[in-house]
Amino acid sequence: MYTADAKRYDKMQYNRCGKSGLMLPAVSLGLWHNFGSVNNYDNMVDMCRTAFDNGITHFDLANNYGPEPGSAEINFGKILKDDLGAYRDELIISTKAGYDMWPGPYGNWGSRKYLIASLDQSLKRMGLEYVDIFYHHRMDPNTPLEETMGALSQIVKSGKALYVGLSNYDGPTLEKATAILEDLKVPFIINQNRYNIFDRTIEKNGLKEKAKELGKGIICFSPLAQGILTDRYLKGIPEDSRVRTSGQFLRESQITDDKIQKVAALNELAAKRGQTLAEMALAWILKDGYVTSVLIGASKPVQILDNIKATENIVFTEEEIRLIDSISC
Ligand SMILES: NC(=O)c1ccc[n+]([C@@H]2O[C@H](COP(=O)([O-])OP(=O)(O)OC[C@H]3O[C@@H](n4cnc5c(N)ncnc54)[C@H](OP(=O)(O)O)[C@@H]3O)[C@@H](O)[C@H]2O)c1
Repeated sequence: MYTADAKRYDKMQYNRCGKSGLMLPAVSLGLWHNFGSVNNYDNMVDMCRTAFDNGITHFDLANNYGPEPGSAEINFGKILKDDLGAYRDELIISTKAGYDMWPGPYGNWGSRKYLIASLDQSLKRMGLEYVDIFYHHRMDPNTPLEETMGALSQIVKSGKALYVGLSNYDGPTLEKATAILEDLKVPFIINQNRYNIFDRTIEKNGLKEKAKELGKGIICFSPLAQGILTDRYLKGIPEDSRVRTSGQFLRESQITDDKIQKVAALNELAAKRGQTLAEMALAWILKDGYVTSVLIGASKPVQILDNIKATENIVFTEEEIRLIDSISC
């Protein structure tokens, strides 16, 4: 039987999620890849144990994570049942709905019909009575914002989620949604968006500033650009890398010579700072206090151990920041 490391809370920094009462680990673990029915179950267990033993209390899922869709929730449900579940009150488990999940007009986007049914399915797959955070996974241009936010409100009132979050929303839509959720007294506390040295979208679309102004947290996904912002691809494309194991989301065509030259220059800077590139890329996101947590993925426990070291040095000189910008932008 699994017993968690007694020193786990000494190893992690916890940040307040916006102006809410919830603290999140500076590094959280996402189960988008490597937790599907095609992956090795023992490795999933090792990764979850490594994460929790090192203070990662937050595990992020979505209805469609797999492959096949839903299988990451099934596997995580098994891990909960077999060992982590004994620590349920020490875990923050999130899931989402918003992308294509089942056939027909009710298995996608942002209708009340879809969101409520999807969360019920997720809870069943994970064997949970509630999730800690339920997200609307992406903006829906065709469903009235009031309907989607109303569904999130109903979900919280029914006790199936403690908090709600919005994912892939931009600054102006976030502001509108916040006003509706405030009227409905919904504990909306967090935004989940892509952010990394190579992808500055949330700086450009106003989300980063707006979230802070509204007192909301931000958790950043793909903080390592799916592995590009590490030493993973510096000497070619390894057979066990995401490009090879899941070419659908990270394609070989994205690993260009130009990109690798930039990664090599960033890698050099990281070495001068006494960090791996993965550590520096995560530290760069955490440096100015806007971001509550970096939401990493991993294919091996050792990557998790590397990534949590990011918090040991999140201070950058102005010259280092300028250098990172000039290399990457
Ligand atoms: N809301 C949304 O729309 C959305 C979208 C995408 C993701 N997410 C969430 O964000 C989570 C993380 O996304 P992501 O997996 O793209 O994050 P990521 O951290 O940018 O990439 C993870 C990948 O980078 C590689 N890696 C990680 N640490 C490493 C290290 N220390 N050294 C070398 N390589 C390392 C591994 O790739 P290899 O497999 O090559 O080893 C790993 O699978 C997801 O699991 C999900 O929960 C949300």
